[in-house]
This record gives sequence, structure tokens and C-alpha cells, in this order.
Amino acid sequence: MPEYREFARFYDAINDESESRSRKMLHYIERYHPNASSVLELGCGTGAILAGLGSGLSLTGIDRSPEMLAIARRRCPSARLLQADITDFSLRERFDVVLCVYDTLNHVQSFDGWLKAFDRVREHLAEGGLFVFDLNTLGRLRRLGEAPPWVHHFDGNTLILDVEFDADALSMWDIRVFEQRTNDQFVLCHEQIVELGVPLQHVREALAMDFELLEETDPDGNPPDDESARAYFAYRLRGRQGETSSSR
Ligand SMILES: C[S@@+](CC[C@H](N)C(=O)[O-])C[C@H]1O[C@@H](n2cnc3c(N)ncnc32)[C@H](O)[C@@H]1O
Repeated sequence: MPEYREFARFYDAINDESESRSRKMLHYIERYHPNASSVLELGCGTGAILAGLGSGLSLTGIDRSPEMLAIARRRCPSARLLQADITDFSLRERFDVVLCVYDTLNHVQSFDGWLKAFDRVREHLAEGGLFVFDLNTLGRLRRLGEAPPWVHHFDGNTLILDVEFDADALSMWDIRVFEQRTNDQFVLCHEQIVELGVPLQHVREALAMDFELLEETDPDGNPPDDESARAYFAYRLRGRQGETSSSR
């Protein structure tokens, strides 16, 4: 079953810290590209990040899940939202900022797919453009696999999330939501999402040629490593010889 078909309608209730995640993205933009006027988010989901970026930026989001996009359309009516795969799309325009956050890259199940997504970023960023992304690290995915299932009650419903981590660095997120319909009646929504962990050094090496590293941190602002809870990266696209920002 395609990912997020069932889980989309619970996503925002469970991930309720979207404002602070948007603020973090605005901080990157203010710091590294204060004159930016256009943002493309890869894997925009329910529009949680785009909705918090304010009205001063032209906003575009792509996602492959129609269910997530339907929510994003209600939440961010002024954004342009398109159904596409982040490893294989062409919008034939360039943006000042590309964002890809909250595990979206981890959802691409092969490193070859990550390289294709980086190629799409290169094609869609204006010269000097800013690329901000985050990653679930190998260590965090392994620790989630070792931990007991996470049980979370929200809006009368109960979520049980059980993560299994295998030797190929793939982790299977088994998500069950018991949705309350009446006082004593629940309906089970079941979905599985796969995330890939990749050593951070592979990512740095893949980007080194065309991108300048501006900043990399863990959630506490320290240098990230493969055991960090999460790794945040900000890169700037280097100039292309013989190409202007409006040519392709
Ligand atoms: C964990 S959500 C993050 C959503 C949003 N960025 C946020 O911060 O709330 C990951 C999103 O990436 C999308 N996604 C995963 N793989 C994708 C792919 N190959 N192409 C397009 N979207 C993808 C999923 O449909 C989902 O909406």
C-alpha cells in the first residue's frame, strides 16, 4: 500500500511541533539567504513547514502522496503543490532555497535514490542557492529498533509505533492507529513506512563537489555524527561555469 495513505489524516496531530520546525528553516534562510524569494520543499507532506514560512516567499512543494498533498492544499492555499517523486521530477525553473526535512530523504530506500534527489536539487537551485535538509542518523534508527514500541494517546485514539532495524540499515516503521469511532469502538489503521540510514560521511562526499557546506549540526547545535539524534545540513550551490541562474 502506498505510504501515508492511511496515516496522512493523523500526521499533524502526532507531529505537533511544526511551528518550531518552520522557525528553524526561517532561521537558515535569514542567516544564509536573506534575499531569497522562492522556496521549493521536497517531500512537503501536509504543508506543515511551508505553512509556517510566512507570506513573503513564493512557495512550492512536491510530494508523492496524494493524501498528504490534499491536506497541504487546505493548509497552504497560496502554495503551488505538485505530486511528484523527489528523485525524478523537472519543474523547469530554479529556486533560491530547497528544503528537504523531517526524514524525507530517509524515505528514499537506496543511496542511489538519494544521489538522484541531490541531482534534482542541483537542477532546481539558482546559483548560490541554499539547500537545507535533515537526516535520521544510523544510530538513531538503530536505537529506535532496539527500543520498545512507542505508545501515544491523542484525540481519543492510540498510536503504537514499532520500529525494526535490519543489517542493511533499512528500518521498518510499523504504525498502528486505533481510531476511536464511538466510546467503545475503535478502527485499526495500519501502515508501514521504510527509512534508510546512511553514514553521514557518504552524504558529505556526495555533495562536496557541487555544494559548499555552510553548517552541520545535531539538535543541540553540536557537530553531528552517526550516533546523533538527527543531523541538519545547510549547503550552498557553487557557481556553474558558463551558466546563469535563469538558464538550464
Ligand atoms: C515524514 S514526512 C515529512 C513531511 C514534511 N516535510 C514535514 O516536515 O512535516 C515525509 C514526506 O515525504 C514524502 N516522500 C517520501 N518519499 C518521497 C519521494 N520519493 N518523493 C516524494 N515524496 C516523498 C512522503 O509522502 C511524506 O509526505
